[in-house]
Amino acid sequence: MSSLLIKNGKICLSDGMIEKDMYIEDGKVKKIGILGNDADEVMDAKGKLLIPGVIDSHTHMEFPFMSEVTADDFYHGTRAALGGGVTTIVDFITPSKNENPMDAYKRWRNKADPKVVSDYALHCILRNGDRNTLDSVKPLIDEGVISFKLFMAYKNELLLDDESLYDAIKEISKYGGVTAIHAENGAIVDKKTEELLKENKTEPVNHYYSRPEIVEIEAANRIATIASMIGKNVKMYMVHTSTFEAVDIFRKYRERGYKFFNETTPNYLTYDYTIFESKYGYRYIMSPPFRTEDELSGLWGRMANNELSIMGSDHCVYSDEQKKRHSDKVPPFNEVPNGTPGTETILPLLYTNGVLKNKITMDQLVTITSKNTADMFGLKSKGNLLPGYDADIAIVDPKKEFKVSYEMLHSNIKYSIFDGMILKGFPETTILRGRKVFENGNILSDAGTGKYVRGTIGY
Ligand code: URP
Ligand code: ZN
Ligand code: ZN
Repeated sequence: MSSLLIKNGKICLSDGMIEKDMYIEDGKVKKIGILGNDADEVMDAKGKLLIPGVIDSHTHMEFPFMSEVTADDFYHGTRAALGGGVTTIVDFITPSKNENPMDAYKRWRNKADPKVVSDYALHCILRNGDRNTLDSVKPLIDEGVISFKLFMAYKNELLLDDESLYDAIKEISKYGGVTAIHAENGAIVDKKTEELLKENKTEPVNHYYSRPEIVEIEAANRIATIASMIGKNVKMYMVHTSTFEAVDIFRKYRERGYKFFNETTPNYLTYDYTIFESKYGYRYIMSPPFRTEDELSGLWGRMANNELSIMGSDHCVYSDEQKKRHSDKVPPFNEVPNGTPGTETILPLLYTNGVLKNKITMDQLVTITSKNTADMFGLKSKGNLLPGYDADIAIVDPKKEFKVSYEMLHSNIKYSIFDGMILKGFPETTILRGRKVFENGNILSDAGTGKYVRGTIGY
C-alpha cells in the first residue's frame, strides 16, 4: 500500500477550486482537507494547480491512413500525452479493409498493451454497414468499446453511404453505444479536389478550398436528420468539429431532447486557414481543415456558453518525410497525409489562450478536458479529483512559461506545429493512479505500465 500526500495545492474541480491537501492511497484519491504529514511521500504544491489528468478523447497511434502509418506508436504517443498532463487517451481501433472489428480490437490491444505509459480506452471505426460488421458492435461493447466512428468522407476507404450510416447508428443505439461521426460531405470534397487540380492549384492552402465550411455544415445537418429519424435514444458525437454552425445545429437538436454533442480540437482554436500559406503549410494539413478567424472565434464563443462538450486533440502525427511523401518537394495538397499533433498541447493551449485570456473559466477547462469525456465514454474511475476516483493529476505552475519546440515535446517527429509559441499550462508533474509518471521534462514510467480502461454504457 503506497501513499502520497500533496500539500497546499489548488485543486481544480468542475465546479470550483479549493486550496487543500490531497491524500492518495493505492492510486486513488482518499481524502481532501487539512491533513497532517503522514504518507510515504509528501509533496508541497503551494501555488500550483492540481488539474484532473486530461482525457484526450481522440488519438490515432500507429494509425494506417493515406498509405502511411502515423509516426507516434503507443509508446511515443502516450509519452507525449503524459508530457502534456494527459493521463488517458481514447484511441481509434481501425480495422483494415475486410477485417472483422473484433479481430481489429484484439490487434489494437496487442499493439497498445506492451507500449502504453498512459492509460487508454478505445473507440472503433466501422468501415462497413454490413451485417457481419454490425454483429461486432455488441461484443465490442462487452469488451468496453462503447463508441463507434463512422465516416462521411474518404470514398472507397472509410466513407459510408446514408443507408449504411442509418443501419450502423441504429445498431449502435440498440445497445446504448455512442456514434462518433466524421462529418464532411466526401463526394463534394472529391469534386472540389478534382476541379482545383485541373486548374493546377496544388499548394497546401487548396486543402482548405477543397473542403469549405459548407461541406461540414451540410454533413452535420444530414447526420442529425438521419439520426433523428432513428430516435431520441441515439447518442451522436461529432468529432473534430471545425465550424460553429455545426455546433449550433447539434444544440438545436439537443434543445428538442436529442443527445447530440460536439467535440473540437485546441488546434482549431489556435490557427486559421492562412497557416496553410506559411513556409511549412503542408505540416498543418488535417481534415476538416483550419477555418476562418470568424469560425475560430465562433468556436471559442460556443465553448464559453457550454455548447461544446469535449476537447480531443485528434493527435495524428506524421513525420516531415511522410508529410512530403518521401520526396524533396511538397506533394499536391490531396496527397499529403491528413493529421496534426496535439495531445501534448491540449492543456497549455486552452490554459494560455482560453483561461488566461478570459475566454473560458478554469471550471470549464476542467469540465471539457476530463469530466465530460469520462461521462460521455463511461470511464467511471476517471475525470474527477474527488475521493474514490483515480489519482490522475496534472500539477501546473500557473506562472511558468515555456517556449515550445519539438525538443521539449515527446512525439516521434522532428518538428512542432507550435514552434516558438510561448505557453503557460504545461505540467511540471503528471501523476497517473498515484504514481509520478512525468516530472520536469522527464518521463518516469516504462512501456506497458499504462492500463486499458473499459468504457461502460451510461447517461
Ligand atoms: O486529418 C485528420 N483528422 N486525420 C485523422 C483522421 C480523422 O479523420 O480523424
Ligand atoms: Zn475524422
Ligand atoms: Zn481523428
